[in-house]
Amino acid sequence: TEHDEYMGSLKAQLAKLFEVSLKVTVPNELDVEPLVAACNGKFGDYQCNNAMGLWSKIKGKGAPFRGPPAVGEAIKNNLPTSEMIESCSVAGPGFVNVVLSKNWMAKVSIQKMLIEGIDTWAPLPPVKTAVVDFSSPNIAKEMHVGHLRSTIIGDTLARMLEFSKVKVLRRNHVGDWGTQFGMLIEFLFEKFPNFEDATETAIGDLQAFYKASKQRFDADPAFKERAQQAVVRLQGGEDKYRRAWAQICQISRTEFHKVYQRLGVHLEEKGESFYNPYIPGVIEALNKQGLVEESQGARVIFIEGINIPLIVVKSDGGFNYASTDLAALWYRLNEEKAEWIIYVTDVGQQQHFDMFFKAAKRAGWLPQGDSSYPKASHVGFGLVLGEDGKRFRTRNTEVVRLVDLLDEAKVRSKAALIERGKGEEWTEKEIESTAEAVGYGAVKATLLFICYMLTLESVQSSGGLKGTLVLGHKDERDLGLHLLQFAEVVEEACTNLLPNVLCDYLYNLSEIFSKFYSNPECKVIGSDMETSRLLLCEATAVVMRKCFDLLGITPIYKI
Ligand code: ARG
Repeated sequence: TEHDEYMGSLKAQLAKLFEVSLKVTVPNELDVEPLVAACNGKFGDYQCNNAMGLWSKIKGKGAPFRGPPAVGEAIKNNLPTSEMIESCSVAGPGFVNVVLSKNWMAKVSIQKMLIEGIDTWAPLPPVKTAVVDFSSPNIAKEMHVGHLRSTIIGDTLARMLEFSKVKVLRRNHVGDWGTQFGMLIEFLFEKFPNFEDATETAIGDLQAFYKASKQRFDADPAFKERAQQAVVRLQGGEDKYRRAWAQICQISRTEFHKVYQRLGVHLEEKGESFYNPYIPGVIEALNKQGLVEESQGARVIFIEGINIPLIVVKSDGGFNYASTDLAALWYRLNEEKAEWIIYVTDVGQQQHFDMFFKAAKRAGWLPQGDSSYPKASHVGFGLVLGEDGKRFRTRNTEVVRLVDLLDEAKVRSKAALIERGKGEEWTEKEIESTAEAVGYGAVKATLLFICYMLTLESVQSSGGLKGTLVLGHKDERDLGLHLLQFAEVVEEACTNLLPNVLCDYLYNLSEIFSKFYSNPECKVIGSDMETSRLLLCEATAVVMRKCFDLLGITPIYKI
């Protein structure tokens, strides 16, 4: 496959060269991990920072060096020759700076990518299959802003992994099981004796239906009794109850689906109910390992360092959120052979994930430590707070109108300014105008990207892939270097599950591009360097388009 000869990101390729050098420089210090970072400074493009650390390990042990700069000097001298590197120098206490070869950047890397495609810059994570568990709203309850954020973040993570040739199981772990269904089913029977005719239009608003049934449940003991019976009959698999349950789920599903369609997000539902049959076996296995203990009538797993245990069977014998998650993890590891399982929820659920990951480690399902696979990761995002300071919830999932978006952007940047104490320092007028500039700026930045795409497309249509790319001017070289860093940025965003790293990259790319494009010294059309600069524009367009794609944003080419 095309990945056979993939050399890794720019940073990874340099790290390999430094690794060779380190082995020669200090042969007795095994496993010295090369510390290479982009520095974009005046001394070079990348820097190796191993000298100081190494010095503190070897000094006084008869090493032939007189201090960190000498170690740095040796690292530099032992670096294998490479067409990547134009020059190398040692600065300060032993930093080894590398200036990349412009010719290598242009021809070997960027032009090669233009010919072979952006896929050749995809990272290679050490896993074949991953589960991304995201969105995951609850049936008959509202899909709130937290679920929307999970949907967007999860989709981007899935896209980055898919770009990296990982098979991604995009799982919608919907809350479709639990005691609330007894009440909903009973209420459905009451309202619609021919319940199978109760379509979405008949029920109207499922959340209102939920509220009404809850009221009924709280007010009427006889109803409550019937609802509790209904749970038992549903769990016992009684046909009429299963059908009513399926009916309610279907109505919610249709609602959720509309949202996914608008956002262009693809998900595969495997709800909580799916894992229900696996729970008893999984808990029994954990019990056999001696992990499950009795505590106040419940069955629990104790976790080191946490004073509350993880409840896996409630005192009434029922299963809960954690029992389901344990069974789902078991299934994902053993049946789906996933090597990386990623959960995207708000940070409010952090402790739940922390505890059940630790339980899975105790059971030996996952290795101790977080650097080996199979691995489970929780991506927790901050909660969105409403104006009352409470968790923000919306009753509908209407996409925010642009004017509202602008208003909201202004309100938020104003709040941020006041939080920074500008209320005392600045006049009201200054605050207002700054809030507008910052708030509208953020919204516009997003739209700006789209404008760049337009420019690029029009420039591109007049060019082709012929000719040679030369990074002669500083602005051209800066742009070329930033393009080359795409691979390591995606790799970092993917490894550390931080999609915002990619947003920052895209933002910087648009700035660096605009610096180049607006510089009269870098005139594109009609200059001697026209072909080369068109190629650079083309490469920028390719990278930008991929960034948009990974972020799930559809660029607009025509207005
Ligand atoms: N349904 C849950 C909620 O709305 C999120 C589920 C997340 N996934 C999981 N496997 N626990 O909060």
